[in-house]
Amino acid sequence: MSATSPQRPVLPPDISARKGTDPLVVLTAYTTPMARLVDPHCDIALVGDSLGMVLHGLPSTLGVTLEMMILHGQAVMRGLSRAMCVIDLPFGSYERGPEQAFDAAVRLIRETGAPAVKLEGGVHMASTIAFLTRRGIPVMAHIGLTPQSVNTLGGYKVVGREGEATRVLEDARAVEAAGAFAVVLEKVPVGLAARVTQSLQIPTIGIGAGAQCDGQVLVVDDMLGMFTAFRPKFVKRYADLGAQAETAIATYAAEVRARTFPAPEHGFADSAPGKS
Ligand code: KIV
Repeated sequence: MSATSPQRPVLPPDISARKGTDPLVVLTAYTTPMARLVDPHCDIALVGDSLGMVLHGLPSTLGVTLEMMILHGQAVMRGLSRAMCVIDLPFGSYERGPEQAFDAAVRLIRETGAPAVKLEGGVHMASTIAFLTRRGIPVMAHIGLTPQSVNTLGGYKVVGREGEATRVLEDARAVEAAGAFAVVLEKVPVGLAARVTQSLQIPTIGIGAGAQCDGQVLVVDDMLGMFTAFRPKFVKRYADLGAQAETAIATYAAEVRARTFPAPEHGFADSAPGKS
């Protein structure tokens, strides 16, 4: 945690003020126990719609609903005392227009207590971001690879090579001008991510966008080795908890079948000690 971090819960202006200082640390969290682990070490706990794939086994984030985000947002808020909770607006809950986005964001904030939302999109979402921020809803933007647009993008591809670089820069400037307090850059080439970072006053938070961003975010289940369905190049594995869990479960199953678990110390005597 940064020496400049406040002792009270982190809020969006604290994140914006970190531009050009020490790197922002962000991880996803979807549950209370994971939020408790993330809280002392991270500036932001992101309730990302990646939870659809990671927790619910969906093929993409497109099936995630507002109700799912509220349920997981409430769980995460119960585990946080300091890190700021940001919750994704899921696919279909905001794209129709600013009023729809406002209604969905109000539900997320009112029903979870989280102070901020994230939404995907650049220039075409600028008017929605402005509508929300002018009405007291802090917005983190998400540009580059925007997974909710996987079908129009044609896959989870790098966004911003060659002719696409100008569009990514325009997206970044548009979300900043609209009032976003920070912007996620996903799967953007490292040189372009550095240019975007230099040209904005708000912090950039990279995922697969190189070390020059103002902060980094990863899906916590990816970096812990708990979600192994696929592994993007930008994920570094800091632990192999999935394999450890598999070994533990296999050992338990073998011991139950061999009747070596439970052992005597896991049972209760027929009469309480000290009683006749
Ligand atoms: O849904 C998510 O987890 C995200 C991060 C990958 C940035 O949006």
